[in-house]
Amino acid sequence: MTLAERLRYETRAVHEETEELLYTESLKAGQLSLEQYSHLLRVHWLFHYALEATIDRYPAFFQAYHPNERRKTPWLTADLAELNIPLPDPQSDLFADWSPVELLGAAYVGEGSMLGGKVVFHHLQKSPELKPVLQNARFYRGYGAEALEKWKAFGGILAGQPEVEHDKIVQAAHRTFRAYHDIFKHTQRQDQPVA
Ligand code: HEM
Repeated sequence: MTLAERLRYETRAVHEETEELLYTESLKAGQLSLEQYSHLLRVHWLFHYALEATIDRYPAFFQAYHPNERRKTPWLTADLAELNIPLPDPQSDLFADWSPVELLGAAYVGEGSMLGGKVVFHHLQKSPELKPVLQNARFYRGYGAEALEKWKAFGGILAGQPEVEHDKIVQAAHRTFRAYHDIFKHTQRQDQPVA
């Protein structure tokens, strides 16, 4: 199996868990609240901020990735500003001790989430509470017309990884999904202080 195939098959279950965790039921029913939407934006901001900052430490390894053309933090910062929500305190150490090859596993999760984003944007638009704030929404529009081209280019990077690294990359992708779950739960606790 190629690395891309392994990533897709071996993280399928944890992807489904992630979807469930991220308010999918409300989302698909067109019932996502403003508070839930803002929670999602903060989760994505924390994840992408930490990942982008760590990838920037390895410009040579990530040259073909073109980090400047794949940044989601500016989109999320704009979306949070639109809601007048302050930026969360960055979790800068999230990927601090990850090797470049492991970061590629994390980048797979970040880039793949852009594919699902399109579907999510469609569902968000069904929610009456979100109508007024979605007009200028940026993050969930993702790469727009460039989505396929960007995903294929990322696939090219995966295809260039030596087989000896594949296990490490797949394991890192797993850990990345788990990290997403942790961020979601952690930020939720901040929203709902114990009385
Ligand atoms: C409710 C939320 C989500 C929905 C409905 C969703 C849906 C989807 C869909 C439909 C695809 C396949 C797209 C295609 O093949 O064209 C996809 C791919 C993917 N999604 Fe999600 N997704 C969601 C959230 C996420 C999140 C939060 C992450 C990351 C933490 C993520 C990571 C990925 C990855 C890595 C892929 C690529 C799978 C592959 O290797 O082909 N998704 N998602």
